[in-house]
Amino acid sequence: MARQSVEEIKAENRGLYGKIIETLLSNESHFEEAEYQLLKFHGSYQQDNRDSRRERRKQKLDKEWMFMVRTKMPSGTLTPEQYLAHDSMADKLGNSTMRLTTRQGIQLHGILKGHLRDAIRYISDCGLTTWGACGDVVRNTMGPAAPIKDEAHSSALELADEISQVFSAQTSSYSSIWLNGEKLELNTNNISEPENEPLYGELYLPRKFKIGIAIPPRNDVDLYSQDVGLVMHTENNKVLGYSIYVGGGFGMTHGIETTYPCLAKPLFYCSKKDIAKACEAIIIVQRDNGDRTDRKHARLKYLVAERGIDWFRKEVQKIISFPTEEIRKANFDTVSDQLGWHEQGDGKLFVGIHVAQGRIKDNEEKQNRTAFRQIAQKFNCSVRITPNANIYFYDIEESNRSDIDQILKDFKIPVGNDFTATRQTAHACVALPTCGLALAESERVFDTLLDSIDSLLNELGLDKDQILIRMTGCPNGCARPYNADFAFVGRAPNKYAMFVGGSSSGDRLASLHKKSVLFDEIQGEIRILLQDFVENRLRQETFSAFWGRTHEELTHPIPKQFHLEKNEY
Ligand code: HEM
Ligand code: SF4
Repeated sequence: MARQSVEEIKAENRGLYGKIIETLLSNESHFEEAEYQLLKFHGSYQQDNRDSRRERRKQKLDKEWMFMVRTKMPSGTLTPEQYLAHDSMADKLGNSTMRLTTRQGIQLHGILKGHLRDAIRYISDCGLTTWGACGDVVRNTMGPAAPIKDEAHSSALELADEISQVFSAQTSSYSSIWLNGEKLELNTNNISEPENEPLYGELYLPRKFKIGIAIPPRNDVDLYSQDVGLVMHTENNKVLGYSIYVGGGFGMTHGIETTYPCLAKPLFYCSKKDIAKACEAIIIVQRDNGDRTDRKHARLKYLVAERGIDWFRKEVQKIISFPTEEIRKANFDTVSDQLGWHEQGDGKLFVGIHVAQGRIKDNEEKQNRTAFRQIAQKFNCSVRITPNANIYFYDIEESNRSDIDQILKDFKIPVGNDFTATRQTAHACVALPTCGLALAESERVFDTLLDSIDSLLNELGLDKDQILIRMTGCPNGCARPYNADFAFVGRAPNKYAMFVGGSSSGDRLASLHKKSVLFDEIQGEIRILLQDFVENRLRQETFSAFWGRTHEELTHPIPKQFHLEKNEY
């Protein structure tokens, strides 16, 4: 039988129920394709341990099936209790680690099928949800992570919450499958009708949809990589409105020129009160016009890139009834976080702590899981996850600062502000062993890579220069590689496509520099370009500015630049 498309699966499984309940009740080790696709909407990816595949195949055993469960929290905000609930779940139900994600969520890995329902219910019991963390809907809404207590930041958080609620899918399948009391029953009578989804309709969106809010000059949410990027404008600390950018997105496939990363493009400015309606209109245009025949071509970015931003703007303006203006100027200077201790504006403090690759775990070398648990427990401080997958603890009294520093010291956790500036912002996606799409290692080799790059930076006197480096295990681009200064994108085991020329403020796309470099060759390739930078940079010039000045064609990206080296086109 031909494989069903995701659009067919959505059409046949109204309300996103499928046979999830049946499979949960059965002795099956894993879900079939349709349920695998539907599960994503519920916040889980079915995976298997890729490290054990070969051995198990030899022994004629089934794959080692397991699940990733992703919690969604607008702007990455968690109470201490919610943080601690995830921490305890990691041990009871997962693989004893937590993964902070680049969309300010938390992933638990290694959950067995028999524990899946408990995990989702536990997350719901602590006041959060996994609903819509994955799937063809509006995903976790990102917001400025720094816990600064001012009008702008609280307004951005409120907006992220509002967007998250307004665009949550309405079907009751989530509560019936995962939250419905103690008993799990097969009861298909309550399967919701399509009219229960007034915005999404029966087929939901053609593809995932991502929204992020930024307050200039900090572009921590990587605004231009979002389907909808909202830039806040203020006057005398009062929020006036937002400039809206649309059509960013990063996934592509190596060698297929019809797939390419895009930066979001300027749509219009509108006042604060109209912003949710503007987002709704944008979603409707994508819902009705996005390409449902090919998932590799279904993101909003292709609609905007191929039909043009002017066409798209007109379609949105047909739906809305409020005035819009031309986009207002905003200057971003960094995508970085504020590591170390800072005042939050109301007399209390926050501390930003670097979390290598977003992984919270204890090992012999350092124990950030225990350290963070103790901080959350003893000082009852709230948590914010940053889009660089670092962590802020906030609402801290000055009198507790030295005790927290002591905990960090006891468990060997550097806050990271004395790292090279490059290491502070570097990031790698999860990849092996859990991600079924990984073509090469990423998270597990990234520290080794950064050690070698650190020594190069120190040798060249560039330890204070912020050079944005990202790595992914495949071209889907979960760690947002295509606007970094340097990016390494998995192609095959130990082989990476090398991209150069994005920017440390996130507003320029890189292009393919070398089709394939071996892991051990990466430092040498970077050295060549950094040596040139050291010799030819202007005073105070960043690597991003240097590359922009010496490679002007990059301001107008073309699909070829992501698939062919420059000498090939
Ligand atoms: C078409 C493209 C994509 C596919 C099929 C895809 C698929 C996946 C899968 C399977 C995982 C789970 C890996 C694991 O935890 O074991 C994952 C994680 C994730 N993806 Fe994607 N992804 C795509 C593109 C993107 C892009 C472009 C972004 C953001 C710009 C993104 C953001 C994330 C985030 C935040 C995570 C969580 C883990 C992390 O922070 O690395 N994804 N994705
Ligand atoms: S970029 Fe590829 S390998 Fe990395 S997590 Fe995303 S899908 Fe997996």
